[in-house]
Amino acid sequence: MVPLFGIFGAFHHAEITDPAQQIAHPAPVPLMQSGPIHIETDHLALTLFVDSKGHLLQRKFGDKASADGAGQTAYPAGGDGWYFEPALFVTHADGNTSTDLRVLGTSTRENVTEISLKDPEYPLFVNLFYRVSPKEDVIEAWTEIRHSEKGNITLERFASSSHDFGNGEFYLTQFHGDWANEMNMQEESLGFGTKILDSKIGVRADQFLNPSFLLSRGGPAKEDSGEVFAGSLAWSGSFQHLFERQPHGHLRVLSGMNPFNSRYFLKAGEIFTTPAMVWAWSKNGTGTLSRNLHRWVRTNALRDGDRVRAILLNNWEATYFSFDAKKITSLFQGAKDLGMELFLLDDGWFGKKYPRDGDNQGLGDWVPDPKKLPNGIGELTDNAKKAGIRFGIWLEPEMVNPRSELFEKHPDWAIQQPKRALELQRNQLALDLSNPKVEAYVYGVIDKTLRQNPGISYIKWDANRYLTQPGSPYLGKSRQTHLQIAYGRALYRIMARMKAEHPDCELMICSGGGGRVDYGSLQFGHEFWPSDMTDPARRIFIQYGYSFFFPPIATSNHVTHMGNHSMKFAFDVAMSGRLGMDIDVDKLSVQDREFAVSAIQTYKSIRETVQLGDQYRLESPYAGPRSAVMSVRGDEAVAFVYAIKDVPAAPLRLKGLDLAATYQVEEINLPAGAKSEPQTITGQTLLTTGLPIPHLSPFSSAIYRLRRTR
Ligand code: DGJ
Repeated sequence: MVPLFGIFGAFHHAEITDPAQQIAHPAPVPLMQSGPIHIETDHLALTLFVDSKGHLLQRKFGDKASADGAGQTAYPAGGDGWYFEPALFVTHADGNTSTDLRVLGTSTRENVTEISLKDPEYPLFVNLFYRVSPKEDVIEAWTEIRHSEKGNITLERFASSSHDFGNGEFYLTQFHGDWANEMNMQEESLGFGTKILDSKIGVRADQFLNPSFLLSRGGPAKEDSGEVFAGSLAWSGSFQHLFERQPHGHLRVLSGMNPFNSRYFLKAGEIFTTPAMVWAWSKNGTGTLSRNLHRWVRTNALRDGDRVRAILLNNWEATYFSFDAKKITSLFQGAKDLGMELFLLDDGWFGKKYPRDGDNQGLGDWVPDPKKLPNGIGELTDNAKKAGIRFGIWLEPEMVNPRSELFEKHPDWAIQQPKRALELQRNQLALDLSNPKVEAYVYGVIDKTLRQNPGISYIKWDANRYLTQPGSPYLGKSRQTHLQIAYGRALYRIMARMKAEHPDCELMICSGGGGRVDYGSLQFGHEFWPSDMTDPARRIFIQYGYSFFFPPIATSNHVTHMGNHSMKFAFDVAMSGRLGMDIDVDKLSVQDREFAVSAIQTYKSIRETVQLGDQYRLESPYAGPRSAVMSVRGDEAVAFVYAIKDVPAAPLRLKGLDLAATYQVEEINLPAGAKSEPQTITGQTLLTTGLPIPHLSPFSSAIYRLRRTR
């Protein structure tokens, strides 16, 4: 199989299989015969063209059925006539700051097209890659840069993708926020000038902005109509999406790793590969776009995207740092009794000299705390097995508290700036993954934990800070600007190794909540932790935001007491994705316990529909106090309706059903004693008039199961 992302070494054109050879004997630059290069999915086309001088032009990026444009530079390099933002900016070994790229050749293998470009005056090679997923209308784009000049070249800009969108009206939706407040949507019209969506925080993509956006043409993005693109960079570090409305009105979008503080000195023979920029497109609005992306994620990105996820109990909000083996063992039984399948032991289980009783110490010392767990992890995995539940554990392997044995031993392993006081976040520092010794250590933490405890089948990988003092004690004075890129690459190498060497261990991607919810890290994970905000009333918005790019199967939704809402409301919100709980199940009231048992049983009966089905957004929480989402799989569907204020009775128009069919509709997940009479309603009525929904009081909800009867 072709690897998913460029960073892991994409294949090369048959004639340039050996880059070293190619670099050593640069071929004269043949001028290509003019002609189109078609990169196409079922409905989306990227049409490129080589002019008589060998320059690569873009004729179209959008509807396959639309006419080709006149031709705009496809991947502009700076310094030789290009006066807008370049996709590539190179300072050559001799100091020349201009680059001219001409096409050497193109090739297509399986679903990847590679276009090889070269500077006629320099042995500088740039290869553009495009991978198509035809049915999902997704095109991934990434770039490889290499050279054989005499000395290093300096890469100042290195976009993964560059596209011209032509003239017209464009609306951009970004997904911004902060800790416990992720994925707020904001849409704006793109006027003249440059708009940048970016992050500069290094070890994760997001603290304030997800690396994903929507770009609609002709008006604001709509759910069921209109042309819309989704863009998302598969990279868990600093990113930049640059939207430039040029004076003639054309919109160009450049996307890639953020060049900010990342000047890269590329050695001769070294290959610089950018992460993939994932583009999806639909002319039928964001609904189709998201369903395509969800399918693409399940089949191309996420691990085991066709396998339903276990129902999980996490102890974080239940115990925080105060627990012992007895408490955890009792939670195993409690979880099992409720019908759950997996237990996740969160932060606080480690540290000997500096026990992890709070977030101020112990991080980095991955030995079980002898007071909390005198018999180690083994006792827990044994007890979990006895209780009949799987066991998972929390790790934050790339980070360190200064109050730790690790930091005492290796203070130079932490990212820091000389002559500056250490700036801590959550009392911790990030380890310098650009240092191969540190990379080996971090992988060792994971490997050792899993090898010593074969009963662990799930890891939550957390990362609770970002970079504010990006200095590497390892890289030396001339390569400090390599830190962020080197960190991200090392992180992915570690994650890839974990996936290869421990294929049966599932992985939850977490970064203080949603810091690493991106297609880059997701290729190594089974699911992600969207946010530390678990109040269901807020979570409705957060889940809605993620739903544009990420499928329900990957979105871990946990029932907690946050917000003091009813168990029903908390479960109804969590059940639209991968269900879990983060609650002290030993302390549940009789009534709540009873409800939880029945809700978990109900979830099992709709799990395949939710996790493997197609999701339809019915009503947006941004549009009014009532919101709704549904999932459809074959003859089954399930609709979730939420109210955060008082909402009068009003029908809910469903989607994704068969107009000609008839459905049995039943309200499920009802409190004990409540009963619902199944109704038979035609698809036509459900799709046009809608499903009757009664008055809903603030913070209430309903779930309806639909089964096709005819
Ligand atoms: C941040 C995560 O988002 C939480 O779920 C929890 O794991 C804490 N870290 C533990 O420190």
